[in-house]
Amino acid sequence: MNDIKKSNSKEIGEKIEIFVNPTWVSDDFIVDFVKKCFEVPKKQGITFSACKIDSDFVKKIMANGAVVVAQIGPDVVACSLIDFQRCGFLFSKNRMYISIDCVDPVFTGMGISSKLTSFVLEMAKEKHCSYAYISTALNSDININRNLKNGFYRWRINSYSGTSYYSILFRKNFYNDKFYRLWHLFRYKYSYCWCRMCKRPDGSHTMIGVVVEKPLLFVRSAILSALKRICHAKKT
Ligand SMILES: CC(C)(COP(=O)(O)OP(=O)(O)OC[C@H]1O[C@@H](n2cnc3c(N)ncnc32)[C@H](O)[C@@H]1OP(=O)(O)O)[C@@H](O)C(=O)NCCC(=O)NCCS
Repeated sequence: MNDIKKSNSKEIGEKIEIFVNPTWVSDDFIVDFVKKCFEVPKKQGITFSACKIDSDFVKKIMANGAVVVAQIGPDVVACSLIDFQRCGFLFSKNRMYISIDCVDPVFTGMGISSKLTSFVLEMAKEKHCSYAYISTALNSDININRNLKNGFYRWRINSYSGTSYYSILFRKNFYNDKFYRLWHLFRYKYSYCWCRMCKRPDGSHTMIGVVVEKPLLFVRSAILSALKRICHAKKT
């Protein structure tokens, strides 16, 4: 993924250029840029996990996905860190995870993140992904509005250690999805109740979670790692 892409669009977008894995932007610059952008929600009381980003994380993203930056002239005004993952039955399909995306606080509210998101969604289609997904905090209205506006729908709720909020996962399919949308509507509501029953916002298990969810998660991860081993053995 070392190809460099470039895209021009209209309005402010006329000044914006988008690059994939630009060689002139260092890992450390991306780390500092992301931290600067995420200071804004942090001051408003939401410390996203992106605040803990380091250069190893950026390297990992580069190896398996891409760092996509939006520039006005030489200045980076936004970036998106995307990850390509295997998914589906026997991991036969691809999906894209928008792991981190942010806009320089000076340039927010100008439609820049919408442009960057539609750019990375096009990348996902080119990579034959079945769907893209993105997560945010359940109490981040800006991001919930933004994801819905970008055509994502509510998919699941989870709670991860290292954060102090319930995470809401949004998904956007690249195939005819009438049936899946209905199924996921049910799944969202079900996961909402399940997660709040079994986990606290900091990812720790409640008493019910310890008794019910922990053993189920253990069985699930054992099955998944067995499947992964089988798939790996088939490939080699
Ligand atoms: C969230 C963020 C990426 C939005 O970037 P942006 O370029 O300002 O967003 P856009 O101008 O493209 O707006 C897209 C939509 O987001 C929502 N939105 C953006 N700013 C908003 C605000 N201040 N209040 C409410 N909704 C807002 C709106 O639905 C907006 O659509 P609209 O302009 O048609 O109403 C940016 O504010 C940011 O980087 N925040 C800090 C980091 C962060 O929260 N990243 C995402 C973590 S999940």
